[in-house]
Amino acid sequence: MTAQAEIAAGYASEGAAIELGAVLVDGTVESTAHVRIPLSMVNRHGLVAGATGTGKTKTLQLLAEQLSNNGVPVLMADVKGDLSGLSQQGQDSDRTKTRAADTGDDWQATAFPVQFLSIGTGGIGVPLRASITSFGPILLSKVLGLNDTQESTLGLIFHWADSKGLPLLDTKDLRSVIQHLTSDEGKADLKGIGGVSSSTAGVILRALVNLEAQGGDRFFGEPELDPADLMRERDGKGVVSLLELAELQGNPALFSTFLMWLLAELFETLPEEGDVEKPKLVFFFDEAHLLFSNASKAFLDQITQTVKLIRSKGIGVFFCTQLPTDIPNDVLSQLGARVQHALRAFTPDDQKALARTVKTYPTTPHYDLEKALTSLGIGEAVITVLSEKGAPTPVAWTRLRAPRSLMDTIGNDAIKQAASQSDLHGKYSETIDRESAYEQLMQKVAPPQEEHFPEPQRQEKEEPGMVEKVLGNSAVKSFLRSAGSALAREITRGLFGTSRKRR
Ligand SMILES: Nc1ncnc2c1ncn2[C@@H]1O[C@H](COP(=O)(O)OP(=O)(O)OP(=O)(O)O)[C@@H](O)[C@H]1O
Ligand SMILES: [Mg+2]
Repeated sequence: MTAQAEIAAGYASEGAAIELGAVLVDGTVESTAHVRIPLSMVNRHGLVAGATGTGKTKTLQLLAEQLSNNGVPVLMADVKGDLSGLSQQGQDSDRTKTRAADTGDDWQATAFPVQFLSIGTGGIGVPLRASITSFGPILLSKVLGLNDTQESTLGLIFHWADSKGLPLLDTKDLRSVIQHLTSDEGKADLKGIGGVSSSTAGVILRALVNLEAQGGDRFFGEPELDPADLMRERDGKGVVSLLELAELQGNPALFSTFLMWLLAELFETLPEEGDVEKPKLVFFFDEAHLLFSNASKAFLDQITQTVKLIRSKGIGVFFCTQLPTDIPNDVLSQLGARVQHALRAFTPDDQKALARTVKTYPTTPHYDLEKALTSLGIGEAVITVLSEKGAPTPVAWTRLRAPRSLMDTIGNDAIKQAASQSDLHGKYSETIDRESAYEQLMQKVAPPQEEHFPEPQRQEKEEPGMVEKVLGNSAVKSFLRSAGSALAREITRGLFGTSRKRR
C-alpha cells in the first residue's frame, strides 16, 4: 500500500461526504487517495486558514458547492465579491482538467442556486436588518466600541426598556430612551435602574450618534430577517446565501457582529437536533479575525458558548482567516476540520505562529509539518478532519479539487440584477417606514380617524417626557399586554443578550 493510500484509508466513509481532493506524499499525488469530510461531521465545525492568495476562498467555494449539492443551505460572507461566481458555471480550462485528473474528479461545469444579500440598505444585495432590541446590548457594545463598564450600562438600559415593554426598533428609538434617561424628567427612572451614571449614559449616547452619522442606522430596523429565509432549497439543492460585504469594509465591527447576531438568532429559533446525517445549515465566517480583535471578554465568552452549543442544532460553522492564531484557543479547540493552506514564515512572529500551528496537528510519520506548511502549492492544504466515528483523521497534504462554478466575480451589476429579481426582494427591500417605535405603538392603538392622540403630542416625539406619556397611556398598556402582536412578543434575552422571541 502506498503512503497516499494509507493516509486516505483514514478518510474512508460510509455516509455521504464532501470530497476535498487527493493526497500528496513527497510531491506525488495519487488520484484515488481521497480526502473528505463526512457530512455527518460538518456540524463539528472547521477552520480554513492560509496566507493571502493560497486558495482559501476557492476552498470555501468548493465546500459550498458540495453542501448545496447535498441539499444543505449555506450562508457565507462574500467579502471581496469573488464568491458570486457560485451562481454561474465554471470554465473548462486545461488547468481545471489537470486538477480534475489529479484529484479523481469527474468535473463538470455547474451553476448553483445563490441569493445575494447585504447588511442594511444601500448595498447591492437584498437588505437584511436587525432591530436594536433583537441585536441586544453585547453586540451593540462591540459595534459602538464601548468598554466593559459602558457595556454593562447599556445592558441595564436595555433591561429597563425591555421591562417597560418598549421595543427598540432602530437607533432613533434607543437614542430617545437614553435621552429620556439622561433628562431631568428621566432622573427617577435612571435611579430606578441602579448603577447607571448619567455621564456613562451620555458617552453611550454620543457613540450612538456617531454610529448614526456614519450611516450605521441603515442596519437597524424592520422588517427583520426571518432565519427561515436562509434555510432554503431549490431543485433539491441547498440555496447559497451570499452576504455581499464589500461596501462594509469601512465598518468591520458591524459586519462581524451582524454575522454573530445571525448565528445567535439561528440558535434561538432552531429546534434541538442531536446527531444529524447532514447539517441543517453551514455558516462561513470569512475574515474571522475581525470578529475576535478588540473583543470584550463577554463577547468572546459568548462566541465560544455559541459555537459549542449550535452544533446540537445541526449547524456547522467554518471560520476562515489568514492565521489559525487569529482564533482564540477555546474556539479553535472546537473546530473539528482543519484545512490549512500555505503559511508564510518571513518574520519571527510568522515563525512563532507556524510553530504553534504545527502543534495543533496530530503527529504524522509522513510529513515534516513545519516544512510542509510553508511549501504547499496554491490550492493545496494540510488537512485533518473528524472521521465518522469522531476521531481525528491522519494528516494529509491534499491537492484540492477545483470548484465547478465560476472562479471569479460576476460583477456588481449582475449581482444587483439577481438581487432585484429575487423573491426576497419584495419582502425586505423597503424599510418599514415609521418615525419611531413609540409613534407606531400609538398609531396601532389609535387609528388616525380616532383622535386619541392630538397632533401636537405626536410631533413631540423627541421631547424627553415622551416615553412617560406613551407608557402612561392605558391603551398602549393594553396593547403591550396583548398577545400575538409582533411588538408585544415577550422579550427574554438569550445568548449575546439578543432577544429571544416567542414565535
Ligand atoms: N482549488 C483550486 N482549484 C483551482 N484553482 C485554485 C484553487 N485554489 C486556488 N486556486 C487558484 O489560486 C487563486 C487564488 O485563490 P483564492 O482566491 O482562493 O486565494 P485566497 O487565499 O482566498 O486569497 P486572499 O487571501 O487574497 O483572499 C485562484 O484565483 C485560483 O486561480
Ligand atoms: Mg480570498
